[in-house]
Amino acid sequence: MRKETCLYADYQATTPLDPRVLAAMEPHWHEAFGNPHSTDHVVGWQAEKATRKGASLVAALIGADTDEIIFTSGATEANNLALFGLVRHTSSKRRRILVSAIEHKCVLAAARALEDREKFTVEHVPVDSEGRIDLGTLKEMLDNTVLLVSIMAVNNEVGVIQDIPAIASLLAPYGILLHTDAAQAPCAMDLHDLAYHADLISLSGHKMYGPQGIGALYLRRDLHDRIEPLIHGGGQQGGIRSGTLPLPLCAGMGAAASLCASEQASIERQEIARLRDTFVGHLRTGEIEVALNGPPNEHRHPGNANVRFVGHNAQDILGVLQPRLAASTGAACTSGTPEPSHVLRALGLSTEESEASIRFSFGRFSTEHEIEQAATLVLEALASISSAARPQAALA
Ligand SMILES: Cc1ncc(COP(=O)(O)O)c(C=O)c1O
Repeated sequence: MRKETCLYADYQATTPLDPRVLAAMEPHWHEAFGNPHSTDHVVGWQAEKATRKGASLVAALIGADTDEIIFTSGATEANNLALFGLVRHTSSKRRRILVSAIEHKCVLAAARALEDREKFTVEHVPVDSEGRIDLGTLKEMLDNTVLLVSIMAVNNEVGVIQDIPAIASLLAPYGILLHTDAAQAPCAMDLHDLAYHADLISLSGHKMYGPQGIGALYLRRDLHDRIEPLIHGGGQQGGIRSGTLPLPLCAGMGAAASLCASEQASIERQEIARLRDTFVGHLRTGEIEVALNGPPNEHRHPGNANVRFVGHNAQDILGVLQPRLAASTGAACTSGTPEPSHVLRALGLSTEESEASIRFSFGRFSTEHEIEQAATLVLEALASISSAARPQAALA
């Protein structure tokens, strides 16, 4: 995938819109428009039917029912709704919340706010050096004082895939709710039974070849009256999330979900993993030592390669690569912040190692040719940085 002359290797920041998704959205910007909440006429009924179809396709992706899908503006809002919504409604004596140490900032920041404002205790579940949840430690942290555990299905920086069914079975004896931020999961794995294991699931349109500006929270049906809305208004979506549903975005997210749930998707994931491995293989032919941060490939997002360039600075490398290659030094949402990645730190990397790391991420429109070009560009950038750093021979 090229963006003008720039090779795109940042699919975990955002995926390009799939043309089939664009086609599904297109009529809803003009002739098939309508307010899905207008109940008095056919234009509204048709719009409502289209948003329901979108919700049903999102539900099918994760094995849920249509009425268990609450559309939001993205995964950030879905995560906030899950955490704040449950906590603000609860009158129970359960006052502890557990979140993994490598959650996206929007979960960590929401959890911190719960601690400050709602007087809950938030504890971080550690991960091992591959980024996997330490199930033994998690088990020891559980008891009847825990309301909710929030653990992401797939990490956005190192691509580690967590064992959500195993985590769910640890929680079940205590009646603890499980929320999973699955924003990165639709491109990484088959999710057809995720709703069987998790009670709340967050999704994002623009991480699965759908539009930006939409996401969803799966909320198990019997939790609908146990959640306090964040946004109050006309009572749409059962009063859980008021506001007029954005019809084209709902249709687009549904189309994107159905592509990720298709049989073709698993073949696609294998092909993307092959390209990712080819890319890393090319990098290893250079003179600079490279290491992969995170888990072995069977537990990693197929498009993710979080690469450490030993002895180098990631910002310098990416700077030299501009404007020819797009990749990132960490979560896009935080890369403006000059602090080492909390994810890499949680895996035990030093500040120096974390500052030497770049996340490359590939996807549906990546090609073999681009992968080779991208690796060549990186090797050239490393060579030019190294030669600039070498002391110049004294001029005669
Ligand atoms: C794991 C994860 N959760 C949440 C988000 C936020 O998603 P959105 O942009 O839809 O708010 C992201 C985006 O980077 C993410 O990767």
